[in-house]
Amino acid sequence: MKFATPAGENPIDRLSVVGRPVPRIDGPRKVTGTARYAYERHDAVSNPAYGWIVGASIGRGRVVSIDTAAAQAAPGVLAVLSTLDFAPLAPGFRTTVHLFGGAQVQHYGQAIALVVADTFEEASAAAHLLTVEYEVAPGRYDLAAEAATAEPVADRDAPDYPVVDRIGDFEAAFAAAPVTVDQHYTTPDQTHAMMEPHATTAAWRDGKVTIWTSAQIVAWHRPDLAKWLGVTEGDVRLEAPFIGGGFGAKLIAQCDAPLAALGARAVGRPVKVTLQRPLVINNTTRRAGTHQHIRLGATRDGRLTAIGHVSLNGNLPGAFAEAAIAPTRLFYAAPNRYLTMKLAALDLAEGNDMRAPGEAPGLMALEIAMDELAEKLGMDPVALRIVNDTQVDPREPDRPFSERHFVECLRTGAERFGWDRRNPTPGAQSDGKWLIGMGMAGGFRLNLLLPSAARVRLEVDGGLTVETDMTDIGTGSYTILAQTAAEMMGVPLAAVTVRLGDSAYPVSAGSGGQFGANNATSGLYAACVKLREAVAARLGIDAADAEFRDGRVLSGDRSVALAEAVREGPLVAEDGITYGDLDEQFVQATFAAQFAEVAVDGFTGEMRVRRMLAVIDSGRVINPTTARSQVIGGMTMGVGAALMETLAVDVRHGTFITNDLGFYEVPVHGDIPHQEVVFLDYPDNKSSPMKAKGIGEIGLCGVAAAIANAVYNATGVRVRDYPITLDKHL
Ligand code: MOS
Repeated sequence: MKFATPAGENPIDRLSVVGRPVPRIDGPRKVTGTARYAYERHDAVSNPAYGWIVGASIGRGRVVSIDTAAAQAAPGVLAVLSTLDFAPLAPGFRTTVHLFGGAQVQHYGQAIALVVADTFEEASAAAHLLTVEYEVAPGRYDLAAEAATAEPVADRDAPDYPVVDRIGDFEAAFAAAPVTVDQHYTTPDQTHAMMEPHATTAAWRDGKVTIWTSAQIVAWHRPDLAKWLGVTEGDVRLEAPFIGGGFGAKLIAQCDAPLAALGARAVGRPVKVTLQRPLVINNTTRRAGTHQHIRLGATRDGRLTAIGHVSLNGNLPGAFAEAAIAPTRLFYAAPNRYLTMKLAALDLAEGNDMRAPGEAPGLMALEIAMDELAEKLGMDPVALRIVNDTQVDPREPDRPFSERHFVECLRTGAERFGWDRRNPTPGAQSDGKWLIGMGMAGGFRLNLLLPSAARVRLEVDGGLTVETDMTDIGTGSYTILAQTAAEMMGVPLAAVTVRLGDSAYPVSAGSGGQFGANNATSGLYAACVKLREAVAARLGIDAADAEFRDGRVLSGDRSVALAEAVREGPLVAEDGITYGDLDEQFVQATFAAQFAEVAVDGFTGEMRVRRMLAVIDSGRVINPTTARSQVIGGMTMGVGAALMETLAVDVRHGTFITNDLGFYEVPVHGDIPHQEVVFLDYPDNKSSPMKAKGIGEIGLCGVAAAIANAVYNATGVRVRDYPITLDKHL
């Protein structure tokens, strides 16, 4: 089904199941341990062997030799796969690294061997018996040191934008502006820190392989795995029914998947492989740190006349830039712009997608700059953002937003948060030894439209079965898909069975870029429209007039039990959603107003977040419970980004030294106060038949800057270098 905009009234609008706070239908399986994750498929394979991956212990160079004799002779060892015995696996989708094979070492921690043994402990012990000889080459590990070599680079996800994006005359407008901000901001490298590490179980049978792996997007993994294993896609069955978090780390296959499959082929037994946490951090991808230069020029009444945003970051040769300028393109009106990204070559593990890639770090800088501008103007930061709202793409004024209620987010947030109680003078509020501050920021994140398909079957017992390769990475996909099918077919939620994450099912958008919920439910909507037509045809009813509710099909004065349609056997329908050039006609985006109150110990500098509020404009909310969980998860990530998270680079060796969850600090419950989330919940009839939009990442966008601005309001010390640790403002 091609989505026709604007969406008219449709069965989802009834909102008898959709839009309700339904608890997760997969919850009981998760809390009873019966939801099997990739490393736990004891139910599916018998007698698995265990693989242990060895990562390169140099940052750049060549493997000259690997002496495997001692490891081969160690107890329990079945095989040792050396990178020197394999041709390099060609880089997969959206990446530039080879995961295994060949002598070249592109970055520290790159896989150079797999030891397979009867037990995990034997594999681990034997791995330490390998003797590896390297030829070390000089590496580039320090972004600041390489800054001078950086070159302007295109945004891989927005290739239509000029590399150097100029509108009007930025320099002249900035020079003429009566009020300006000209500042530099830095964000560190970060790691995803999802709970479940990358993990795979692989088993071969008759030349075909089944791979149970922790994948966000099944259809992004499967072609690469087929290529690396030298088999057809049809010979690879990929299953990912449960995933313990992804945050971008599992969008594309990492080395656990091909190595488990290669190991299983070598030993003729199923093999399980997981990455130890230090390898997750050093072997897989990171979010690349940024140095951002922002220049804002405004009239005295706060209208932006010039926006300059230059973002520098570093990545492997040929890899991509973190698109920190992405939100700046579309967030605020300003006639003169100069936006560009520069990329330096670094020999660190690849920078790639992580948690609102582009927008999250971009807004960490832009939204402090807006706070600084408001202060210089003597203007309220909420009012400054309202004045600069735009309802059209500033570059293409004929291209409106599908819906944009950012101003209402700001107004609602200010009222709900008690923003009028904020003292605009920094360092002027205290509570005993604590300095108190309030801050706010805007949040912006694109709503991406991707094709997504599903199959739905009406069973003879009246049950509905949904099948799609969509994944549930902890987000609630199972639940919202069940709600969608129940609403469309007029059956109770309990009648719906949802099966996900299997390459045997129709290809969905998958879980990434906050595009999963809206697109996957829309694909299922399309399949259900087809199923309704099939039901109506069997019953001799005109589908266009039929209403499906309470297990019945109603048309005129006829009322027939849905079960009548499947007396002779089940009915199956499969379809998907496509959008044509809809995102070219309308800017598809989501919005947030983020508010935070912090307390800073006046003696020690310790910071506590006391209150947080997010007001979210992301179209229709399919399930307020799971949507809220997405948003508070994002807000929690924002606390981490503001105050804690640093993937610290040892610039001598190219290693990440904060390489476990002890050293790589993320917020724990004690760090997180009451979080309030308000959804504006305006259906967007130009986004999809669900009238929903993305929700998975907007909750993070703007949060770190809101906290940074609150810390400034508390202390009067402006920190422009994340994370804001106490040493930076004492
Ligand atoms: Mo997201 S970083 O696309 O999982």
